[in-house]
Amino acid sequence: MSYETITVEKRGKVAVLTINRPDKLNALSSQVHAEGVTALDELRSDGSIRVLVITGAGEKAFIAGADISEFEGQTPVTQRNTFHERSFFNSIDTFPKPVIAMVNGFCLGGGNELAMACDLRMASENARFSQPEINLGIMCGGGGTQRLPRLVGEGRAMEMVLTGDMIDAATAERFGLVNHVYPSDQLEAETMKLAEKIAEKAPIALQLSKEAVKFASRSNLDEGLRREVDLFAICFSTEDKKEGVSAFLEKRKPEFKGS
Ligand code: COA
Repeated sequence: MSYETITVEKRGKVAVLTINRPDKLNALSSQVHAEGVTALDELRSDGSIRVLVITGAGEKAFIAGADISEFEGQTPVTQRNTFHERSFFNSIDTFPKPVIAMVNGFCLGGGNELAMACDLRMASENARFSQPEINLGIMCGGGGTQRLPRLVGEGRAMEMVLTGDMIDAATAERFGLVNHVYPSDQLEAETMKLAEKIAEKAPIALQLSKEAVKFASRSNLDEGLRREVDLFAICFSTEDKKEGVSAFLEKRKPEFKGS
């Protein structure tokens, strides 16, 4: 499949999806949303791909938010449809393989919401984060008011959402908004190192682990513990569980097949 606003590159077991509108700081147009959803549908069923990395083209921005130029033509209904149900955000959230955001510059509005829909966030030292919607007289619509407080706590999220102020990468790391920060010239190598490490793990156990961790902020402790033990039990039906246990006992490296 060829796309106009994104590129998808397969590097062994890792796919790299790049938002490719550097002249518009990779703003999320409705075409980016649509192509992103299509690409994720394809990668979802591609057994050769075990981890997805999402990044933005160019040195300046990861994603500078929703494409503001499209706001004028939107009705409440069309805007709601872009941001809900079959949205790029939700496709990432429910993607059955680990997704890493590689944040290489401005990470604003819908960009920060998209990064937060990913499972892990790696950032360059020049990355900047904000939810600036309030400055446009609107509010977050891609998960900002829900995912941000879960990652950084209510007080910090409230300050970002109510002021629209940018925070730098060191602050984002201190808040827990990003997992790691690296100098710009090391970001890609470090992100790929992490992606390749995860790509060697058992795919079904990765999928179920992701589901369980995400469920933690969507349930109470008792429901979460019940869900975890059910998913843990499913692992015992897999070939990869046999392989993992045998490899440990035989003192060799396991080779997981995703079955
Ligand atoms: N939507 C549409 N276009 C955008 C955009 C967005 N969210 N963010 C940047 N662009 C475009 C600019 O309009 C400009 O296009 P042009 O060259 O055709 O005029 C181009 O990207 C470069 O941006 P520019 O503003 O010239 O760069 P800058 O270095 O002066 O400022 C930012 C960078 C990120 C501070 C500034 O672009 C900005 O504030 N963007 C909007 C961020 C935002 O509010 N996002 C949330 C939307 S809900």
